[in-house]
Amino acid sequence: MTQGARHTPGRRTVLGAAVLGSAAALALPAAAQAAERGTGGHGSSGAELPVPTIVGHRGSSGYRPEHTLGSYQLALDLGAHVIEQDLVPTKDGHLVCRHENDITATTNVSDHPEFASRRTTKVVDGTSITGWFTEDFTLAELKTLRAKERIPGVRQRNTLYDGRWEVPTFEEVLRWADAEGRRRGRPVWLYVETKHPTYFRGIGLALEERLAKVLRRYGRDRKDSPLLLQSFEPSSMQRMAKLVGTRRVVLLDAAATRPWDFKVANDPRTVADLVTPAGLKWIASFAQGIGPTLDLIIPRDAAGKLGTPTTLVRDAHAKHLILHPYTMRNENSFLPADFRRGTDPNAYGDAFGAFQVWFEQGIDGIFTDNPDTGLLAREDFLAR
Ligand code: G3P
Ligand code: CA
Repeated sequence: MTQGARHTPGRRTVLGAAVLGSAAALALPAAAQAAERGTGGHGSSGAELPVPTIVGHRGSSGYRPEHTLGSYQLALDLGAHVIEQDLVPTKDGHLVCRHENDITATTNVSDHPEFASRRTTKVVDGTSITGWFTEDFTLAELKTLRAKERIPGVRQRNTLYDGRWEVPTFEEVLRWADAEGRRRGRPVWLYVETKHPTYFRGIGLALEERLAKVLRRYGRDRKDSPLLLQSFEPSSMQRMAKLVGTRRVVLLDAAATRPWDFKVANDPRTVADLVTPAGLKWIASFAQGIGPTLDLIIPRDAAGKLGTPTTLVRDAHAKHLILHPYTMRNENSFLPADFRRGTDPNAYGDAFGAFQVWFEQGIDGIFTDNPDTGLLAREDFLAR
């Protein structure tokens, strides 16, 4: 099994040990650990998150079509500490929750003959894509569509909910989160990603100023607001840093890749450069955390088995950056080979075992399509 840095169970932090400082975060008494397990550690100011933090990836996308109010509600009801939204704009400038601007796979747009002529081919971040795009629809038009399961071959049961929910606007999600927060007596945390920010700025639909305006309107623009911002394009987080105080996380794709904004700006750095101490120091100059792939923490070999952990957790913490890697999913096809069970790629493997390995590395949280599994695994980890 892996040999990463041992995570101290039950430590309570503002966002993670890296932010608070390790001396204060370690060695909580047993009663405090139990309280932390029981309450989730949410502060009324929204400033606290339990560690390790369980982030509902696109809501509870293991069980419901992603980025729907149904997916977000279930994630919250299951106990996820934070609920994730990916944001793209409509033609008339509204921010809506979709993983990408191409809505072909996650809505029933292809069933709407009135929109048949909107099908087109575009180059987004260097990739040619044919489909229907949010920026070609007004919000009113988009609202006539219904969401559907992205991967029905893998998650057939989720197709039960196809057609049930609309594409939500970010403002609708904020209103839902505020209402749920009042009902529960604690803030509902959100984790908001700007998608394709350079592309959208280039077509006159810049995300950051719109997002900042909405965050201010809903009072989530402060450093202690219960919301984390995230982007694969560091320049998007740099822009947000100038607009609002809300905390920021830089997402990191595979080591050999280059963020799209770097390519546009002729910045030669790759993700491999960003995970060096110098790269992490640069990120820490405008962000509070990183969201790396799981593989950047423990690489997999050609057979999909886990190898030797990298020093990324230690190196990021040394720069006072928290780590929220992505994405844990219960199905065999997504798990490291070490944790697959049987030969059906769509069957669940030993997800509990896999979660332990990631927690053992000392991560501050994790994105998962299955927040209930993540929460139970977290309980196992904290009880050890
Ligand atoms: O934002 C964390 C994780 O969601 C990044 O991957 O592609 O699912 O947005 P993606
Ligand atoms: Ca995301």
